[in-house]
Amino acid sequence: MSVNDDTTSSMLKRLADDPMLVLNKMASENGSLDLGLGFPNFPPPHHITQALSDAATGNNFTLHHYTSPYGHPRLVNVLAKLYSKFLSTTLDPTDHVLITIGAFQGLSSICQSLIYPGDEVILLEPFYAAYKTMLEMRGAVPVYVPLRPYKDGGEQSSANWVFNTAELQKAVTSKTKAIFLNTPMNPLGKVFDKKELREISDLCVKHNLLCVADEVYERLIYGGKQHTRIASFPNMWQRTISLGSAGKSFSVTGWKVGWCVGPKHLIQVLQNYHFSAIRTSPTPTQEALAVAFEKEMHVMNTPESYFQTISKELELKRNRLCQYLNKAGFNAITPDGGCYIIADISNILAHAVGKDKISEEALDYRFAKWAVTEKKLCVMPLSIFYSEAHRYMSEKYVRICFLKTDETLEKAKEILDEWKQS
Ligand SMILES: Cc1ncc(COP(=O)(O)O)c(C=O)c1O
Repeated sequence: MSVNDDTTSSMLKRLADDPMLVLNKMASENGSLDLGLGFPNFPPPHHITQALSDAATGNNFTLHHYTSPYGHPRLVNVLAKLYSKFLSTTLDPTDHVLITIGAFQGLSSICQSLIYPGDEVILLEPFYAAYKTMLEMRGAVPVYVPLRPYKDGGEQSSANWVFNTAELQKAVTSKTKAIFLNTPMNPLGKVFDKKELREISDLCVKHNLLCVADEVYERLIYGGKQHTRIASFPNMWQRTISLGSAGKSFSVTGWKVGWCVGPKHLIQVLQNYHFSAIRTSPTPTQEALAVAFEKEMHVMNTPESYFQTISKELELKRNRLCQYLNKAGFNAITPDGGCYIIADISNILAHAVGKDKISEEALDYRFAKWAVTEKKLCVMPLSIFYSEAHRYMSEKYVRICFLKTDETLEKAKEILDEWKQS
């Protein structure tokens, strides 16, 4: 068999042209301001770096060696306690929790061990792009259900974007295995409300579906909105895997520690896969995060909680960047969660790249390339978070990250002000 005949390898070749990679490369080569990717350009809180330093330099040398394959005991213990509280049940640290190398590896392990070739999996659009790639690499079939804004013009919020119930129900076939639910949602910042979650959970129960609840942005929620866990709905615990990320929760994306929480029969499959494919996650970062979570458990819902501090700080950054974007002619869709703003570029698109399609390239991608080249500002085209069939819904939007220092946001303002004038 030649390399080109092989579906996976030709898909992997195609991934090299991923717009995210292309735009990042362009941005780093010409020194653009990078609001494309979702990582903080500010330090984590001191008590967390101190915990890592203590783990590395303290007397407990075992912290430099392999820990339990399914998760460092101190970390799985505190996570089990925390989720027992969230889900009003009693979780067992060995049966119900698996520590992964970032939530990304948790998602990948789910695709490799609980999803099979030919299985259909429902993705709500816009979706975290990795879901599609991971499912296709597994030979599974993503089935897309788009969210649409229910009102046009005026002030826009991520809450205005909703799925059509009939469309969601129609997406289920005899081959449907699972639904991926990302709340708060990347890239849109939507926080699904109880009514929407009830509809999704009813569907899962009715058709015996697995629910992959990607909750990595659970700590980044604004304007008094509440994160609701779908695993807490009736009959959902036994069919849901909830994923979390230390990177997103404690502003330590480089530590790459994530977790899966769920019922024994699902976590056990993941644990078996993990033991064969990954074996063990690094110990010192797990120890430091256990210390951080233990502290959070004591100060939860008080001003001393990092989870409270970070969401308050980010809400101000969100408001500030929405304001700067709107002033420059974008129309920002205010997110209720996460770290990105989706902005409508209809008013400035034609001026930047013309209105007509001159190639297969999506208009928003052309706009993003133009913004890097001409304005030295890196943003992501929304079309990369859509299927081919629904790409047309996305071409008037870009995604912009606000998880940045105030200095970076002020630099963005300077670029946007100059843009407006020119
Ligand atoms: C929706 C979503 N899920 C999962 C991940 C991966 O998280 P981690 O960095 O913990 O691997 C990301 C990272 O950006 C994300 O946006």
